[in-house]
Amino acid sequence: MTTSPFDLTGKLAVVTGAGRGLGQGVALGLANAGADLVLVGLPDSQTETEKMVRDLGRDVEVLDLDVSDHEAVAALGQQVSSDHQVDILVNNAGIIDRHDTVDVTPESWNTVLDINLSGLFFLTQHVGRPMVERGHGKIVSIASLLAFQGGIRVVSYTASKHGVAGITKALANEWGPSGVQVNAIAPGYMATDNTTALREDPERSRSILDRIPAGRWGTPEDIAGAAVFLSSSAADYVNGHVLVVDGGWMAR
Ligand SMILES: NC(=O)c1ccc[n+]([C@@H]2O[C@H](COP(=O)([O-])OP(=O)(O)OC[C@H]3O[C@@H](n4cnc5c(N)ncnc54)[C@H](O)[C@@H]3O)[C@@H](O)[C@H]2O)c1
Repeated sequence: MTTSPFDLTGKLAVVTGAGRGLGQGVALGLANAGADLVLVGLPDSQTETEKMVRDLGRDVEVLDLDVSDHEAVAALGQQVSSDHQVDILVNNAGIIDRHDTVDVTPESWNTVLDINLSGLFFLTQHVGRPMVERGHGKIVSIASLLAFQGGIRVVSYTASKHGVAGITKALANEWGPSGVQVNAIAPGYMATDNTTALREDPERSRSILDRIPAGRWGTPEDIAGAAVFLSSSAADYVNGHVLVVDGGWMAR
């Protein structure tokens, strides 16, 4: 019997911010493909996903972490890598803060960059180190269309997501020779808490939908397939790529 190259049976995946939204969609997608999960996120935020993964028959562990706390990131990254052989890391946790650029405060800027960029980088560093030593591993970060475009009233988010694309390419160069693939997914406009303000604004919502050839907002399930692909041996020769999953927005 041949095994599907998308099969993740026996693999261990760490997913950040898996309690809701896209992180939950990714965690369930990986679990459906056979992976066991370590869910990493804010305290008491991941109980629902934990149960859903367990109901799929996979092993699941929940670890508390604020990814903006660099010391805690280092400790957790080292701990999870000594407790497990981590095959897959999905950096999903992220926030958005909407302001006119003239109103962005240092505090708001730093919070977004600490979570979306610095936290992502240092967790990748600590979980990636043993992958590099072992000679295999998959890292998948959730970027955004704002890794390519400017966006409106979200300059800190745009800076962070351009940074995620940069980290993805830099690490692909550095770790590719060691058998570790580093890629990202750029979701389009997805119906999660991240986009509530846009969906509640009838004008913005209509103008966004008008540009999406699929004619609808994306769902967490819509990015599960891309996450499984980039986490699997089917993507062994895919490295440093930012895969757009946007219902066709960028083609417009
Ligand atoms: N929804 C979209 O349209 C969209 C589009 C492009 C990219 N994204 C990205 O997808 C990812 C998931 O966002 P979402 O849309 O599911 O939004 P969401 O707000 O529903 O989920 C964000 C997740 O991140 C976690 N999180 C936030 N701050 C954290 C912290 N300090 N430490 C640990 N975890 C933290 C939350 O608990 C939550 O689980 C983010 O990186 C976001 O930027 C979303």
